[in-house]
Amino acid sequence: MILSIIASLGENNENGKKNNLICYLPKDLKHFREITLGHTIIMGRKTFYSLPNGPLFGRRNIIISRNQNLKIKNAEIYTSLETALSILSELGEIFIIGGNQIYKQTLPIANCLYLTKIHSTFPEADSFFPTINYKEWREVKHEKHPIDEKTPYPISFLKYERIIN
Ligand SMILES: NC(=O)c1ccc[n+]([C@@H]2O[C@H](COP(=O)([O-])OP(=O)(O)OC[C@H]3O[C@@H](n4cnc5c(N)ncnc54)[C@H](OP(=O)(O)O)[C@@H]3O)[C@@H](O)[C@H]2O)c1
Repeated sequence: MILSIIASLGENNENGKKNNLICYLPKDLKHFREITLGHTIIMGRKTFYSLPNGPLFGRRNIIISRNQNLKIKNAEIYTSLETALSILSELGEIFIIGGNQIYKQTLPIANCLYLTKIHSTFPEADSFFPTINYKEWREVKHEKHPIDEKTPYPISFLKYERIIN
């Protein structure tokens, strides 16, 4: 299993406000869809409830919650992250799609990071991606995109692979 994290974040690691994204970037949502389509995605219960249309189409949706009574159509619920990861361990690449509680618990064991860096700051943010020790990671992709009519900030699509555990 390759455990990959995918996230978008501002210059101060901010990536959420009021259980929603810090900004709406169609180009980043398309990039997210292209990378995760056909794969298994794991998310925390709060991130699931932030999705506008429920489980994400074309992907196996796994939700982590301590609520043993939670049932959601077209999604699988696990009450622990460890259980989910051990059950899914035979799969190829699995994507952790947030939120920050789940990122924090999986960053130490992830093999790969797909980050969209939004080159701006968002002072109204109330949720932050955990601190990344870049010495543990090698950058393998760096794709810059300037501002355009639907993208109000410059963004970069970055990919890192772990070099140190
Ligand atoms: N920009 C991005 O890339 C991105 C991506 C995703 C999310 N976000 C943002 O992140 C924010 C949400 O993140 P968050 O950290 O507040 O919440 P979260 O990680 O999405 O969900 C937290 C919930 O997950 C469950 N959980 C967490 N760890 C668990 C464990 N070890 N075992 C069992 N259940 C566990 C608990 O659910 P129960 O309370 O049900 O037990 C917990 O309340 C939002 O603002 C969202 O928009 C940003």
